Order: sequence, then structure tokens, then C-alpha cells
Amino acid sequence: MDPKVLGQACAILESGGLVAFPTETVYGLGADAENPAAVARIYAAKGRPNDHPVIVHVAPGADLDYWVTDIPDTARKLVAAFWPGPLTLIMKRHPQIPDAVSGGQDTVGLRCPSHPVAIALLSAFKGGKGGVAAPSANKFGNVSPTTAQHVRDEFGADVLDAAGMAETAAHAVAAMITARMENPGAHVLDTARSLRVAVLDGGSSQVGIESTILDLSRLDTHGPVLLRPGHIGAQDICDVIGVMPNLPDQSAPRASGTLESHYAPKAPVALVEAAKLADVLVQLAAKGHKTAVIHYCDNAALPAGTFTAHQHMPSDAPGYAYGLYAALRAMDQSDAQLILVEAPPQTDAWLGVNDRLRRAAFGATGIVEKLLASS
Ligand code: TXA
Ligand code: MG
Repeated sequence: MDPKVLGQACAILESGGLVAFPTETVYGLGADAENPAAVARIYAAKGRPNDHPVIVHVAPGADLDYWVTDIPDTARKLVAAFWPGPLTLIMKRHPQIPDAVSGGQDTVGLRCPSHPVAIALLSAFKGGKGGVAAPSANKFGNVSPTTAQHVRDEFGADVLDAAGMAETAAHAVAAMITARMENPGAHVLDTARSLRVAVLDGGSSQVGIESTILDLSRLDTHGPVLLRPGHIGAQDICDVIGVMPNLPDQSAPRASGTLESHYAPKAPVALVEAAKLADVLVQLAAKGHKTAVIHYCDNAALPAGTFTAHQHMPSDAPGYAYGLYAALRAMDQSDAQLILVEAPPQTDAWLGVNDRLRRAAFGATGIVEKLLASS
């Protein structure tokens, strides 16, 4: 990571601006977690309701007591086992941490990512003592980005190029020096620049789907609760803490990644059983529909001439997760009216992938039947 670019990214963050950065799961859209005006810019840039909590990213070795009160033993064990890594822990928020990061709830979601660029940024920002609030760097409801180009595709003209980033950082530093305000970040960036996004490029995110989220904020009454499945599975967690996490009930906290419809491309997505894939493709083609296919069966199993685009996925869950969002984006860029996905196996290893696919397909329930019924 070029130290000059890293310095610019820190200056932008410290002045209340937005920096998108790679993590091992997906790219995040970051702002200073302790600056409510900066956190509000994340919501504005994403078009996201501001009562949704965002995850606070911290450097390796960060002082948990600064962010959290009543740290349970369970949390310390999980941190020792899985950080840096794709696990977010929800705990009781320390009163000194602004409630803007948790949408007004009394908790905070903390995670220490393992991507080297994320670690470099978090270790440099406020000398490694800061927190960077970051949801996935996509517009609300869209597919999460796993490359810097995906972030540029999401925010278009609002993305800073290298010259814009240097200029914004210089402006931020100058304004902070002149202002010498108690809370420099809050008003330093002028409105014209404040919603522009600087992007750090760290290649493709290795995991490809968002972190596992475990709620430890109500251990006494609810035990550990798995709010969002991911690369770190329930069994992995059980192996460390000795109890299997519970699934959320009605009283579980709101989580945007847990909205029924999420991670959706523009074209409707339909899941189809592996055994029926070829047959459905033939029927859709016979009706003149343009279909894109995401599959893990051999290319040869797809009937020729029945699809306009296809993406062959690895048949192991981590490999599939790695390529999933890029595949959804690529298929969305074809002229297909429908993205047909060969349903992966229903085993535990596939929980995270199946969760994201189910949400991507949620808004389009019954679409295949509808297309086949039309004349
Ligand atoms: O892998 C990830 O977690 C990525 C990268 C950038 O770290 N981030 C991510 O953020 O997926 P986002 O905002 O797209 O999803 C975060 C989820 C949301 O569902 C949010 O509601 C939940 O975490 N969350 C954050 N803080 C919470 C809290 N205090 N209580 C309950 N849920 C929380
Ligand atoms: Mg998201």
C-alpha cells in the first residue's frame, strides 16, 4: 500500500469524508465511527435508512474496552480465535461511542478485518485507535462489491480519481489546520466534496460474502445469536465457545443484511433445482425469453442455444462464495431478462451462499412460472 495514498485516505477520514476500502469479505464504505456527521454521509451516499446500524472496523489489537461495556468472556475467546477475520460481534456499546453507528440501539457491531489494505488503513487511522464505520460499499439493496471497480460502478461520478483524492486530502488537511476546531471532522469538508468517495484498490475480496454476525449483547436471556451466516460457520463458533449459537427470533435486532430482499441485481433472480435446470432452460428459450445462468454443473449439461450468458461456478462453497457477487453483476450486464441460478446443495457449508441467493431471489418469487405462462 502506497504510504502517500494511505496518508490521503486517513486525512479524508479524519476530516469526516468517505473512503471505500477492501476487506476480505466485501468492500466497505468507511467513515470515522466517532463523527456522527461523517456517519450520516455514509447513509446519504448509500441511500440507506439512517436507523440501520453499521459495523465499526477496528485495527488488530484494538482496545475493546474503549468501544464496549461488559465484554463477555465469550467475546474474548472469539476474538482470539477469529480476528482478524470475517466475524462481527454485537455487544453493549460504551456510552462514549455515538449512537449514530448503531441506529440508536444500545449496542455496537465490531469487526477486525484481515485484508492487508484494511489492516494498513485501520492501523494508520488515528494511530490505530480509531474505528471506521463501514457498511458494504453499494447503494442500498444492491449486490455488495468485491472489487474496486464494483465500487466505482455503484457510485459512478461521485468516485474520486487519484488527482481528486490528493486534492481532497490536501483540502482536508488545510481546513483542519485553519479551523482548529474541537471536532475537526464535523464541518471541515465542504458540501461539494463531502459525498465524494475515495476508493482504495486491494484486488478481489477473498471471501466474497459478508461477515458472519453474532449477537452477544443479550447472552443472559438469549445466548449467542447468529444474525447473519457467513464464512465462519455455527460449528466453528461452537468449537470455540462450547455452545451452538441460536437462530434469531422476532426480538432480534434489525439488520439490513437480514431484510428479506437484499443483495439483488436489477434483473430478477430465480433459483431452480439442479435436476430441473436443463428442462426449465429449454422451456424458457422456447417461449423466446433471454436467460442468463449461474451454474456449477458442467457446461456440457446446459442445452445449447437456450441462454444468452452463463457463469460456471466452483462446486465448493468457499470458491462459490468468492465468485458469487461478481457473477450476479456480470449476468446483470448481459441483456438477459432473468438470471437463473442452479440451487446449490443445502448442507451447512452452503448456509452463507444459500442465504444470499435466497435474498437475491426474494423479490422475484414465481417469476419462472409467470414467464412460462405468458404467451
Ligand atoms: O463483511 C461485512 O460485514 C461487510 C464489510 C464491509 O465489513 N460489512 C457489511 O456491512 O456487510 P452492512 O452494513 O452491509 O451489513 C452489516 C450488518 C447489517 O445487517 C446491520 O444491520 C448489522 O450488520 N449490524 C451492525 N451493527 C449492528 C448492531 N449494533 N446491532 C445489530 N445489527 C447490527
Ligand atoms: Mg450491505
